[in-house]
Amino acid sequence: MDQNILKQQAAEAALAYLPHDGIIGVGTGSTVNFFIDALASIKGRFEGAASSSEASSERLKAHGIQVVDLNAAGELDVYVDGADESNRHLQLIKGGGGALTREKIIAAASKKFICIADQSKLVDVLGGFPLPVEVIPMARSYVARELVKLGGRPVLREGFTTDNGNQILDVHDLEIMEPARFEMMVNQIVGVVTVGIFANRPADVLILGSEKGPQVIKLD
Ligand code: A5P
Repeated sequence: MDQNILKQQAAEAALAYLPHDGIIGVGTGSTVNFFIDALASIKGRFEGAASSSEASSERLKAHGIQVVDLNAAGELDVYVDGADESNRHLQLIKGGGGALTREKIIAAASKKFICIADQSKLVDVLGGFPLPVEVIPMARSYVARELVKLGGRPVLREGFTTDNGNQILDVHDLEIMEPARFEMMVNQIVGVVTVGIFANRPADVLILGSEKGPQVIKLD
């Protein structure tokens, strides 16, 4: 089945988890784009959205959905976002689109994190997808050397600047056996803005588009 159909299926299934009012947290990526398009069909039902990227904000506005500054929104009931990988504990790798910092901020500020993806994103061990790490540009080489000490092979994402004016190192060759611990270790490196492991704040619900229809995994 076409991957886009599976992404759209997961995105539309997420509508059932939305509150009946308030502000909805909206992530970034091709799966979330389907979610934003689906949101447009119920836009009278909620006040607006807090968005994790300029790209998502533009798409929301194009649908006539109000984009609200997170500072003015308070705690959000629900955040909906995609992922590059998820394990069965709903610990994620995110940041393939480079929006990981704002994504992590909105996830932290939300009561419930609904992750939407096609079934190919479910893995046993995180790390097959190169781990994105956002860095302050002047710290790039230092952080890269520290990541090598942790067993990774960092590669600069050429020609890419994040919405925050920083750079991304994509770390290859990792097999992340203890995601929460590894997240904290990378967070400790001076110059790291955000590591794309979402393990200390995992998703609460994972909706996977599949040939059999949406498969839902929830944390106990
Ligand atoms: C954006 O920075 C990412 O975290 C995305 O959520 C992730 O890359 C998933 O993107 P797709 O939905 O395009 O696969």
